[in-house]
Amino acid sequence: MWRWLLAAAGVVGTVMGGVADPRPDPSLYNIGVGIHDVTGPAAGVNMMGYANPAQVNSGIHMRLFSRAFILDDTQRRVVFVSVDCGMMASILKIKVMERLAAEYGELYRHQNVILSGTHTHSGPAGYLQFLLFEITSLGFIKDTLDAMVEGIFQSIKQAHESMVPGYLYLSSGQLLNTSINRSPTGYLNNPEEERNKYQHNTDKTMTLLRLVAQDGTHLGMVNWYAVHPTSMNNTNTLVSGDNKGYASQLFEEAMNPGALPGQGKFVAAFAQANCGDVSPNIQGPKCIDTGLPCDLATSTCDGRVKNCIAFGPGKDMVESTRIIGTNQFQKAWELYHDPAAVKVSGPVQFAQQFIDMSNYTVHFEGGATGKTCVPALGYSFAAGTIDGPGAFDFTQGTTEGNPFWNMVGGLLHTPSQDQVDCHAPKPILLDTGEINVPYAWHPRIIDTQVGRVGQLIILPVPGEFTTMCGRRFRDQVSETLSAEGVEGTVPVIAGLSNVYTHYVTTWEEYQVQRYEAASTIYGPHTCSAYMQQYSYLATAMLQGETPPPGPSPPDLSDSMITMLPGVVYDGAPPGSTFGDVVAQPYPLAYTGETVTAKFVSGHPRNDVQLGGSFLTVERQNETGHWQVVATDASWQTRFIWDRVSSLLGTSVASVKWDIPADTPDGTYRITHSGHHKTLFRGVFPYHGVSHPFKVVTAPAEEGNKVEREVDVSSSQSWWSKMFGA
Ligand SMILES: *[C@@H]1O[C@H](CO)[C@@H](O)[C@H](O)[C@H]1NC(C)=O
Ligand SMILES: *[C@@H]1O[C@H](CO)[C@@H](O)[C@H](O)[C@H]1NC(C)=O
Ligand SMILES: *[C@@H]1O[C@H](CO)[C@@H](O)[C@H](O)[C@H]1NC(C)=O
Ligand SMILES: *[C@@H]1O[C@H](CO)[C@@H](O)[C@H](O)[C@H]1NC(C)=O
Repeated sequence: MWRWLLAAAGVVGTVMGGVADPRPDPSLYNIGVGIHDVTGPAAGVNMMGYANPAQVNSGIHMRLFSRAFILDDTQRRVVFVSVDCGMMASILKIKVMERLAAEYGELYRHQNVILSGTHTHSGPAGYLQFLLFEITSLGFIKDTLDAMVEGIFQSIKQAHESMVPGYLYLSSGQLLNTSINRSPTGYLNNPEEERNKYQHNTDKTMTLLRLVAQDGTHLGMVNWYAVHPTSMNNTNTLVSGDNKGYASQLFEEAMNPGALPGQGKFVAAFAQANCGDVSPNIQGPKCIDTGLPCDLATSTCDGRVKNCIAFGPGKDMVESTRIIGTNQFQKAWELYHDPAAVKVSGPVQFAQQFIDMSNYTVHFEGGATGKTCVPALGYSFAAGTIDGPGAFDFTQGTTEGNPFWNMVGGLLHTPSQDQVDCHAPKPILLDTGEINVPYAWHPRIIDTQVGRVGQLIILPVPGEFTTMCGRRFRDQVSETLSAEGVEGTVPVIAGLSNVYTHYVTTWEEYQVQRYEAASTIYGPHTCSAYMQQYSYLATAMLQGETPPPGPSPPDLSDSMITMLPGVVYDGAPPGSTFGDVVAQPYPLAYTGETVTAKFVSGHPRNDVQLGGSFLTVERQNETGHWQVVATDASWQTRFIWDRVSSLLGTSVASVKWDIPADTPDGTYRITHSGHHKTLFRGVFPYHGVSHPFKVVTAPAEEGNKVEREVDVSSSQSWWSKMFGA
């Protein structure tokens, strides 16, 4: 009906940037939002981000979600998806596009679908197809990729099916006390007159889009703010959306009262921007052995990176996550209710092109040119950052314990002279671009893309731009748009989109070769190359032209190698069965305390329980029914899995619940669901339920938080004897 009305009125319209906008009300859009779980294997898999081989997951703190937004002006639509994951990956986008094509034909294409990662460092790895990204995960991990493809697809489907007419509003504001620059000496190498234009050495602006239906229903929110989700450090082994995941949970909880995480209608995404050199660990780095400041230029203590670590504002990483997440939530909440928000108006447009980033020519003012390089990583890459020092294990001088690295380590390549010259002054540690055995180590064909909804210009970039590179890039695109007659645009960088290529620094930052510069894999002119390419796309977009598609990125599905062994079998100790409770919760708990229940368990990898939960906390209501009040996605719960004996295949799942202060008094219980694997007959579901226990509001003077756990099950004594659990 609505579409028909608009079509009938089609001749009335405005012309913006060369493309006719035929709508009578250029601020009325079709809007859809969707959310779906994307959590892959919850245990036994390396986490993506710190490249720390020892960081193998063992449970869930918060589930990971894909949040999708479809914005349509009746002629064209763009899809923006923010996913709680380390970064977007080309194979992931390829597989999501295949699913979308099978369901919707030509409606959703590489051109108008933007997939962006939040950059949490606490999600399962193994879903990127280029070899370098698979070293610490022992190769490709299909269960991770499958869960993400399915979850992203389902979130877009939900957005597609929920589309209604509505309005969009933009606001922005400064959020301080939430981020610091972690490579200040790199930043300082940028020209002084350029630095003088800015008050801070990281971008403090949060830009927020509010989505409201025509009938006034609140639909969703997405904001872009530059900060690494590295509040959880490289010792964490529980799956987590980190500070941005928590901020989303807070916002969605406030807008969907009573709904469990991921199950409400209102969707709130805290998306990533130019976070390259931006740390959430705002107390800054110090030497953990001496407490003294680290050497500023090299981030070392006594010549070594290992002990130079930055800490957040909290007493531990969980509290830091809570604070940095809450800060982002509060600023977003304020901006969401900003009475001065600008109503978005104008056409939906986009342009996209695949380019060969290893061979891109940059044309500078005055006629000089520069070239990008075939990918390579510099020495400082191996040093890691103050958020997680010492990236790959080979820098520690040992390759033991990683069969995948042993296999590929012998293939290391000596760079050609051209390659050395191209990357100078970066000393090449890993000449990834010149090795293609057993398959490509780094991408060369890069997805570049621009999306527009009225004043909002979304710039999905394939990696982590530093603060200053991001500023130059946004300014350049704005100038290009102005030159085409489109003023007053609001450009946002959507970081870690579509394909991952590490970092992008300015040419000046590149000269001092901090971690981010050593990880700028296409060489010193990478930032300039993207400025030129995205300006080209912006012009094409406004002129209504479709750029040539460019070379297709490879699909390495058939080449990728997996060396992570699967689950062999699970065993329950004699006399017990899967789901049996081996430690019951204490029968009485005060709010503010933590209750624990432990269960005989199977390996979580047997089934990722996509869209489900390994646990519930349930409350008995007036009619005696049990109602779920928390799942494994909830901030207040933790699902912790331990393999007790690899030989016997026995394992224990611990469920912990931090009882929130506002929990109503009553009778509660804890459940655990999972799957166990038999040697010959396959995988079977099981379910376990604890004894009920009472929760009582803590007396006002009772400030002490206690964790109670009492083993009362009959199987407890032999369990302890056999396994010491
Ligand atoms: C910054 O955050 C810390 C930790 O949350 C807090 O103690 C401090 O008061 C804040 N400072 C400002 C200026 O807001
Ligand atoms: C990680 O955080 C914990 C506190 O939660 C701290 O004890 C530990 O030193 C940190 N480790 C690293 C490597 O940052
Ligand atoms: C690099 O691009 C140029 C055109 O810009 C082309 O002539 C040349 O063959 C390309 N080189 C490689 C190695 O692809
Ligand atoms: C109790 O829970 C059951 C099952 O979820 C539900 O159908 C019923 O309406 C609830 N009753 C009350 C009083 O909340």
